[in-house]
Amino acid sequence: MLQITQLSKSYRSGAIALRDISFTIKPHSFTAILGPSGAGKSTLLRCIPRLLQPDQGQIWFQGLNLTTCSTKELRFCRRQIALVAQQSNLVRRRSALANCLAGRLPELSLWRCFLNQYPTSLLVEGLSALNRVQLLDFAFQRADQLSGGQQQRVAIARALTQGAGLILADEPVASLDPNSAQVVLSLLRSLCQQEGLTVICNLHQVEFAKQYSDRILGIRAGRLVLDTPTDELDEADINQIYRPSSLEKD
Ligand SMILES: Nc1ncnc2c1ncn2[C@@H]1O[C@H](COP(=O)(O)OP(=O)(O)OP(=O)(O)O)[C@@H](O)[C@H]1O
Ligand SMILES: [Mg+2]
Repeated sequence: MLQITQLSKSYRSGAIALRDISFTIKPHSFTAILGPSGAGKSTLLRCIPRLLQPDQGQIWFQGLNLTTCSTKELRFCRRQIALVAQQSNLVRRRSALANCLAGRLPELSLWRCFLNQYPTSLLVEGLSALNRVQLLDFAFQRADQLSGGQQQRVAIARALTQGAGLILADEPVASLDPNSAQVVLSLLRSLCQQEGLTVICNLHQVEFAKQYSDRILGIRAGRLVLDTPTDELDEADINQIYRPSSLEKD
């Protein structure tokens, strides 16, 4: 589904965020990315749909090279890739349903957008997505009147309404209590297992990565230092990712 080869990215500030990263993601899998703060996890996720331009390397998504494809092809691929961030970035005053439909506004005429006149078929898709994240009862509630966990589930429903097959989740549970975090991660997991989506999820909690992912990638100082099936993760692997920087060789 996704193949990254020799990806590197530095910022104008001089920070080298990614160094020669390569990995392949299988369809329907849940991959967790672990790494200390500043390791490059968010940069990596943002490079995939080219929200950030990598300096070097290639990103292949469903057979298309996103680093060289046309703008039209990139736009088409971006519909299939959704980024879910730590803060759900919902429009606070709009309903859960309106937020779900936001990703589809470009395909509507101007007057429909202006008057909030959505075609029935699109409303049904939005409601169906909210049902899949078990928030149908909250469809008409304002986003800012939902809990943090519910807001994250609306963000996931928005990704589903968008038609995304790949969800890039950047610390989606960082601001949630443990129970709400479990609900959100269980949901992402079941979307992989039951509905065939693919998830790549940046996490800071090793326990969550162990509990929900099939595979763990470890990033440290911009380098991929670990790529392992989750059930083979051991203490040495965790040290490899998080060992104190005073022990760095480079
Ligand atoms: N917009 C930016 N401009 C300059 N440097 C940046 C920018 N964004 C990130 N960096 C730098 O790039 C490196 C990687 O940052 P990134 O945000 O990808 O790390 P991260 O692993 O997501 O960290 P965290 O776990 O804290 O979210 C860091 O050294 C950071 O300071
Ligand atoms: Mg980050």
